[in-house]
Amino acid sequence: MIDIRHCHLLPYNTFGIDALADRFIEYSSEEELRQVIPCIQQTPYLHIGGGSNLLFTSDFKGIILHSAIKGIEVVEDTDDHCCIRVGAAEIWDDVVAYTIQQGLSGAENLSLIPGEVGASAVQNIGAYGVEVKDLIVLVETIDLQTGQPRVFNVGECRYGYRQSIFKQELKNKYAVTYVTYRLNKTFTPHLDYGNIRRELTNTEAVTPALVRDTIIRIRKSKLPDPKVQGNAGSFFKNPVVDREVFQRLLQKYPSMPYYEVENGVKIPAGWMIEQCGWKGKNLGKAGVNPLQALVLVNLGGATGQEILQLCNTICQDVYQKFAVTISPEVNII
Ligand code: EPU
Repeated sequence: MIDIRHCHLLPYNTFGIDALADRFIEYSSEEELRQVIPCIQQTPYLHIGGGSNLLFTSDFKGIILHSAIKGIEVVEDTDDHCCIRVGAAEIWDDVVAYTIQQGLSGAENLSLIPGEVGASAVQNIGAYGVEVKDLIVLVETIDLQTGQPRVFNVGECRYGYRQSIFKQELKNKYAVTYVTYRLNKTFTPHLDYGNIRRELTNTEAVTPALVRDTIIRIRKSKLPDPKVQGNAGSFFKNPVVDREVFQRLLQKYPSMPYYEVENGVKIPAGWMIEQCGWKGKNLGKAGVNPLQALVLVNLGGATGQEILQLCNTICQDVYQKFAVTISPEVNII
């Protein structure tokens, strides 16, 4: 167990914000997590993963919890699929690489998404037409009040776009310890999103490895590397508007990109932000990525408050121009 008082959070958030936590505890087993539970009954706490979807806007007056539960184990292996049970602290992209090395498919479109396995199940990470809920079978957790284990099947997780029960009714109530994913032995490529098909080298047979390489190339060309420039990936969610609002917008902006979804039409917030003139611009040390306006960046030494101010200004501008509310995907602490 790692237990640090007055801990600098710089290494624990990809935005590169140097906030201070009263205490930081990292546990490496379910047993160690149970030992921590009495400490968090009277004190505010925050469970973090890879810190790739967080913005600290002030010092954290409480306990930051982090899992170090590792391991990948095959728990079911049939002719057409394989289930793997993975510790919450494994790096998500290492898991994707592992599945491809094993000849499995299903996770390749989710290549290079930053963060850890526990957060993949809380956040329902997604990219290029696939969401992790499509792979999840079970999420194992520990109740942070009683220490009792509880296993959620995928239906009980109530997944939606970047949404789950762990971000809603059960927010901060359970810590994810292991996630079981189901991968396929027969490859069905998902190539219809955006420019994946165009980017594939058409001389080669399409394999999960080729899709992974292509997605890594697309992401690297648009998304800044947090090791070089602090950021948390998409800062905002893409809003879903009803058909009436969509028709109004399309009439005014005929070239507007959009995706039909179950409950309406999804409009890319990055496009709206760009239309407002924010792409590549900044407010002090908080900037808007010049290649993908959905991503806010730390231009060097920004405070969380500066990033938040840029976020609020952009939301207001988007509302003024489009009468559509956009909201952060990143957890603002
Ligand atoms: N667009 C612009 N200007 C911009 C950014 C985007 O016009 O500055 C337009 C693009 O031309 C395109 C559309 O908006 O027509 C969509 O852009 P893109 O394919 O880059 O995807 P996105 O909707 O902006 C979402 C996810 C990303 C994910 C990509 C690819 C959210 C909040 N973000 O972005 O996820 O990688 O799709 O699937 O849903 C993340 O969550 O951190 C993340 C990077």
